Amino acid sequence: MTDYIIETENLTKTYPGNIQAVKGIHLQIKQGEIFGFLGPNGAGKTTTIKMLSTSITPTSGSASIMGYDIVKDSLRVRRNIGVVPQDLTADEDLKAVENLRMIARFYDLPKVPSNKKIAELLNLVDLGDVGGHYVRTFSGGMRKRLELIMGLVNEPKVLFLDEPTLGLDVQTRAKMWDYIKKVREDLGVTIILTTHYLEEADELSDRICIIDHGNIITIGTSAELKASLKGDSIIVETKDEESLKTVAEFSGSLEEPAINGKEIRLTVKDADSDLPLLMDFMIKKGITPMKMSVQKPSLDQVFLKLTGNEIREDSGESAFKQALTMRRMRR
Ligand SMILES: Nc1ncnc2c1ncn2[C@@H]1O[C@H](COP(=O)(O)OP(=O)(O)O)[C@@H](O)[C@H]1O
Ligand SMILES: [Mg+2]
Repeated sequence: MTDYIIETENLTKTYPGNIQAVKGIHLQIKQGEIFGFLGPNGAGKTTTIKMLSTSITPTSGSASIMGYDIVKDSLRVRRNIGVVPQDLTADEDLKAVENLRMIARFYDLPKVPSNKKIAELLNLVDLGDVGGHYVRTFSGGMRKRLELIMGLVNEPKVLFLDEPTLGLDVQTRAKMWDYIKKVREDLGVTIILTTHYLEEADELSDRICIIDHGNIITIGTSAELKASLKGDSIIVETKDEESLKTVAEFSGSLEEPAINGKEIRLTVKDADSDLPLLMDFMIKKGITPMKMSVQKPSLDQVFLKLTGNEIREDSGESAFKQALTMRRMRR
């Protein structure tokens, strides 16, 4: 047996048409951790989750969960995992409790979960009072909470959450984070989550794996990833470009400053102590800034540095609405 609850070796998925969604990834996930897959849309996150949760088979490579091979031993894998897919799955025309009873059939559980078990799950996400209500009356946040516990009915050791807060507003998202943390604390499950929201990965994950174009870009704790950037940025805007050249002579810069139009970006060791020094320097040189701002290392900057792009967060909302519309159209 290995020390890791999930291990992958060269895990690869190529869809028909030679679409290389996941290009041979190596992963080792520890028991009890929240492991975050962060990457832009189309990076290969859902495909990875679908392979690990046995809903699609890898093109090549292998993976195991609790020592069980995801292909050869898929039944045992399925019994030990919970899956909360990216798209909403609860039936709107059923009550919350009915959805939870239904899910038992999906997992081929020996019997329908007890009322006590269902009540426990509903209480875990503060839906205890609305278990008897139709799902169609639920708000977006309530629906996502219901989806979360639908993944817990079979008492899994590993829970996969694919974009657990997709399309939720900022406050509802933050509440969802608390519930996800609670699930880990109360039930001790290992959680694998995917997200294209930087703050979400930052807030929830013990370790973050940044993925792009089917490749792992980097893996580490949020602090480790940020520490891989050299320092803080100070951005100064001046009236004219001549002044920028003078600002560029500031001795605290760790690397060559980047000038862009009327803006200069200085990389400094620690903005908190370097900013006053830069101000003194500018006053001495007779330069009045139009604007000044500080950027501390963020995951977005890590991604920017490693890929040359930003992780854009714009398409989540529309994908969520699209999923809802598609559901309505199907009925
Ligand atoms: N069933 C499929 N058939 C063909 N291509 C797919 C399929 N599912 C996903 N893809 C493609 O694979 C790539 C990765 O998609 P996906 O795993 O859904 O990414 P993410 O979840 O990170 O947004 C994308 O280019 C996507 O268009
Ligand atoms: Mg996805």
